[in-house]
Amino acid sequence: MPQPAIQLATAPAAKTCLALILGEGEGVGAGFSRLTPGAAEDVKASLAALGFKAARGKTQLLGRPAGTDAVALAVTGGGDLTKLDDAGMETIAASLYHAVKGAGFDGLSFDLKGYQPELVARALLAFHLASYRFDKYFGQAKLDKAPTLKNITLVCDDIKAVEAAFAPLAALRDGILFARDLVSEPANVLYPQSYADRVKALETTGLQVEVLGVAEMEKLGMHSLLGVGLGSRKESKLVIMQWQGAGKAQPVAFVGKGVTFDTGGISIKPAEGMEDMKWDMGGSAAVVGAMIALASRKAKVNAVGIIGLVENMPDGNAQRPGDVVKAMSGTTIEVINTDAEGRLVLADALWYCQDRFKPQFMIDLATLTGAMIIALGMDYAGVFSNNDELAERIGEASKAAGENTWRMPLPPQYEKQIDSKIADIRNIGGRPAGSITAALFLQRFVNNVPWAHMDIAPVAWTNEQRIPTVPEGATGFGVRTLNQLVERFYEQ
Ligand code: BES
Ligand code: MN
Ligand code: ZN
Repeated sequence: MPQPAIQLATAPAAKTCLALILGEGEGVGAGFSRLTPGAAEDVKASLAALGFKAARGKTQLLGRPAGTDAVALAVTGGGDLTKLDDAGMETIAASLYHAVKGAGFDGLSFDLKGYQPELVARALLAFHLASYRFDKYFGQAKLDKAPTLKNITLVCDDIKAVEAAFAPLAALRDGILFARDLVSEPANVLYPQSYADRVKALETTGLQVEVLGVAEMEKLGMHSLLGVGLGSRKESKLVIMQWQGAGKAQPVAFVGKGVTFDTGGISIKPAEGMEDMKWDMGGSAAVVGAMIALASRKAKVNAVGIIGLVENMPDGNAQRPGDVVKAMSGTTIEVINTDAEGRLVLADALWYCQDRFKPQFMIDLATLTGAMIIALGMDYAGVFSNNDELAERIGEASKAAGENTWRMPLPPQYEKQIDSKIADIRNIGGRPAGSITAALFLQRFVNNVPWAHMDIAPVAWTNEQRIPTVPEGATGFGVRTLNQLVERFYEQ
């Protein structure tokens, strides 16, 4: 069974686990009115005996409350309910999901009567995000080991009002889950052509999608991007998505690194952990997810999403260390290390983007450097920008979206690390400040347009659940920040 079914109702479903929020310091919370006075007293006594403090995100499972047809009771801590915001409700709902998903019952009724429709909609989003699983390659035996919880009912006052509040969040959910699916797919299934086909199929959402192949990119002079794909049997692609939601307004633009597999090329990576490099297209997946969210909620903005899809493989045709390639911009690049391929892909994608679309700004997302993980650990993406306003807006949007980012510097004095003796620039800058010199490299392909680069290497994938709405595996990081950025600052 895939994800559980999640629905809205005005009363709990029969024979389910009943879940209630208890605020910190509250005697008996609002949801307790569903219980008989005697049962509520029993629950209160049990919680006191267990030392339950109602901290946000902590759930206590108790036995069947007398006088109801519920099979169990889940009391979930709300923390300080006077300070409950959207993010807080997401934490409560997603934590509740994890606390009860494997507890043995197949139905959950979460009593949210008395809560604003916007908050109930957030709980709905949280259940969708928290219960995501990528199980398409599981056989029956493994599917049978799925969480026991199959049906989730959110009990609310006004279904229509919650549905209305949820509509834009459903668009966001679709974007996030699509991005997670892309990142989860193995590279024998998801390669440039099959990836482009999946994006082309998104035209049903209202996106316009163009796909350029090698012949078209050769005409454009994109030899930086094309050089990366030379060792692969899979044809490189550039996919251009457009969402027109604001007439003739100047578009915003997102550009993504879509290396469907990164062996390192001739500068091949060690075997251990190389399988992780199937998610080296996480930046592109965030761009696709954000475009889905914008189109599905009919955002009042014009947006362009460009993803460079390439497989980095070693073979007789592969690019060699020391090769010199000319990018679409005319800049020549000495390829010292074929494993620093993401910047080569983005160099042409960024140039093409600003050249063709003259965007108000462009933001690229990429799993660009292992050094970003060394600098920030696994909980932050790095943000590099030539524009303070754009950087601050990304910071604000990411905070509101619950995705951690941290701004990094672009010191011009480090430029000399990427100077080449035989070309305009070389593609690696040595070990010191590896993420920064990668960003400085990208900046060489940006003209006067406000630009930001998000190095999401630390956060595109997680080996453990670190946030309740983001289960282990592909995170979909970036979709929420980009969607929030547009919603906050760029919609008409
Ligand atoms: N895709 C990798 C970066 C990466 C590494 C992302 C580990 C996530 C986890 C990128 O293409 C790469 O190989 N970068 C090299 C750059 C080096 C050769 C200058 C790196 O980080 O080692
Ligand atoms: Mn690489
Ligand atoms: Zn890479």
